Amino acid sequence: MIQARGASATPLRILSVAAGPAQELVELLEQAEELPAPLEIVLFDQDKGALAYAWRRLKGVIDRKWQKRVQVLFLNESIKRLLRDAQLFAGFGEFDAIFSCGLFDYLQPSTGVVLTRNLFARLAPGGKLLIGNMVPENPTRWIMEHHLDWQLIYRSRAELSDIARRAAPAGRLQILEEETGVNPFMELTRD
Ligand SMILES: C[S@@+](CC[C@H](N)C(=O)[O-])C[C@H]1O[C@@H](n2cnc3c(N)ncnc32)[C@H](O)[C@@H]1O
Repeated sequence: MIQARGASATPLRILSVAAGPAQELVELLEQAEELPAPLEIVLFDQDKGALAYAWRRLKGVIDRKWQKRVQVLFLNESIKRLLRDAQLFAGFGEFDAIFSCGLFDYLQPSTGVVLTRNLFARLAPGGKLLIGNMVPENPTRWIMEHHLDWQLIYRSRAELSDIARRAAPAGRLQILEEETGVNPFMELTRD
């Protein structure tokens, strides 16, 4: 649960890293009946087409339900820049929530550590960083690998936790499960 900061007019600031089509945000905004605070969302992705597609989908629901309550910004960049430049997001201020799904499954552990560290540094006090990674028990793994040639770097919960601890020893760590049980998230809270 992400807590609103101060008065409910203070925006909650959210960063989605490797946002892709932003399906989870479209669903959240479609399903929510109210928002605890205005939202400022930054979508970060190297693929301009994915950002344009995400915007077309988000604009529909924002225009219909959340005019003036939800603002979306776009950052069309590669995480390679963020790995070199920890200040890449400095101009965007601090975030209450940063999340990434479908990216760490392609990163070597050392890259994952640096990226986690740089993202954790962008959290506001009380903010949460959530990063997902598929576990080796993924039941569709063999289809993905043998029929689709889709190779991921699978990680156990212990390996995911190890990246979190190396990147942000001061962060409060928890492993969160989603309903399928194959894509756990590390959650690092900045106290
Ligand atoms: C598997 S999709 C995941 C999309 C979304 N997060 C989801 O869970 O559905 C991976 C996304 O990561 C983006 N991506 C891959 N490498 C990246 C990089 N180096 N920098 C920024 N974005 C990257 C791709 O453009 C793509 O949109």
